[in-house]
Amino acid sequence: MDQQQQAHILLFPFPALGHIKPLLSLAELLCHAGLHVTFLNTDHNHRCLTHLQPLSTHFPTLRFESISDGLPTDHPRNVQLVGDLIFSVKSVTKPRFRDLLADLSTKSEHPVTCVIADGIMSFAIDIAKELGVRAMTFWAFSPCGLWSFLCMPKLIEEGQLPVGGDDMDQMVRSVPGMESILRRRDLPDICRQQVDDPLFQFFVEEFKAITRTSALILNSFDQLEALTLSHIDPLFSRIYTIGPLTALLTSRIAHDVSRSLSSFNNLCEADRSCMTWLDSQPLRSVVYVSFGSTGMMTRGQLFEFWHGLINSGKPFLWVVRQDGIAGVEGEHAIPEELHEGTKDRGFLVDWAPQEEVLAHQAVGGFLTHNGWNSTLEGIVAGVPMLCWPTIADQHINSRWVSEVWRIGLDMKDTCDRSTIEMMIRAMMEERREEITKSMDRIAKLAYDSANQGGSSYHNLDKLIEDIKKKV
Ligand code: UDX
Repeated sequence: MDQQQQAHILLFPFPALGHIKPLLSLAELLCHAGLHVTFLNTDHNHRCLTHLQPLSTHFPTLRFESISDGLPTDHPRNVQLVGDLIFSVKSVTKPRFRDLLADLSTKSEHPVTCVIADGIMSFAIDIAKELGVRAMTFWAFSPCGLWSFLCMPKLIEEGQLPVGGDDMDQMVRSVPGMESILRRRDLPDICRQQVDDPLFQFFVEEFKAITRTSALILNSFDQLEALTLSHIDPLFSRIYTIGPLTALLTSRIAHDVSRSLSSFNNLCEADRSCMTWLDSQPLRSVVYVSFGSTGMMTRGQLFEFWHGLINSGKPFLWVVRQDGIAGVEGEHAIPEELHEGTKDRGFLVDWAPQEEVLAHQAVGGFLTHNGWNSTLEGIVAGVPMLCWPTIADQHINSRWVSEVWRIGLDMKDTCDRSTIEMMIRAMMEERREEITKSMDRIAKLAYDSANQGGSSYHNLDKLIEDIKKKV
């Protein structure tokens, strides 16, 4: 048996869609290179993602396993209750993971030789080390987010957290390299919580733990974040920047296969009727609106967005998830008047085939929450962004989009119809030319990095080589 056949990687994402999707792309790329991969989902997600099973037909070395997240079946597992999931995984999943890995690394036909675990699940890294299995960390958020997270202990020590009140535009001076860009309002949302909050404490501990990994895998590319990477680099013995993973998938896996795989990469069932609607719209005229798999808004905010979109006069395709509206029971459904009032100029769906939508020639702007996957997908498609971040790294991502890469506009912390209308017009008309110019440049860098001769293309080879070597 050669080394390639012996290498077996266990991939373990945090149980949320925005974390599963990029790791699944990595799984496909590793299998494409002939490696054995076990993809570990929680039982709940495994049940929701049954349509992924046929992926094993394309990739015979890919298999799926599942493990309990410890929550009752009927728990909503939404972003508002993410603390339940986090603490349950830490207490219930952790010991089960130890047993599973002990079995998979000794008893199976192809013993697991390497664990790649999510950056907010340090227990998996520790357990792998304990059992003598090589461990690497996959960071699903942005590198600029990571650097700000890594500086949080320092921010706490200096008494700068939590941030809030009237001084949110004050610059943050304690994140090296970001002194002239980062304002308090751009810090990750947990910086707005009390420092003794258990969730805050959890994240701080995870960010401290991350440097214990032997290697860090980032879904980004060198040319996008050179400055940030220069600060992160000395903290890790090895970093592999292999993003945008969606672009690597396209460049590495034959076009026809990757097209059929893209249906798997839509982790939820997408409403494809919007593609026909897009076909009928003028070139670059449509604003695509999506706040990812986690974005939440109140009913009041929903209506502000709706009025802003209508008043902008632009056609729009809007993903309004049933579970994306916060409110008391019974108010969760999308109001009928929104459906009715949208018919003339817009199109609403529960879930869109986002990457295809962004690549459609009718789409001219992306109103996004700046989840890291969405941000990279917007870059790959070269679509200017209007940013309305909600949680996690999204606040810093949106700042980078508007002030560093200059590929969009940031409207964080505001949500009134007149601002929304004005910002949409700015993205689609007044500032379109300058934004598009920067976006074209960045999109080309993304393309180049993911294709032969590019840094991410090369780094993936290096990662595969190193995984094989260590067997
Ligand atoms: C979460 C965090 O909130 C984010 O900050 C972090 O960077 C990653 O995980 P999430 O809400 O899942 O983000 O957003 P994002 O990272 O953008 O991922 C959403 C994925 O769902 C994207 O890949 C997008 O293509 C997909 N999607 C979204 C669809 O396919 N269809 C939709 O209608 C909406």
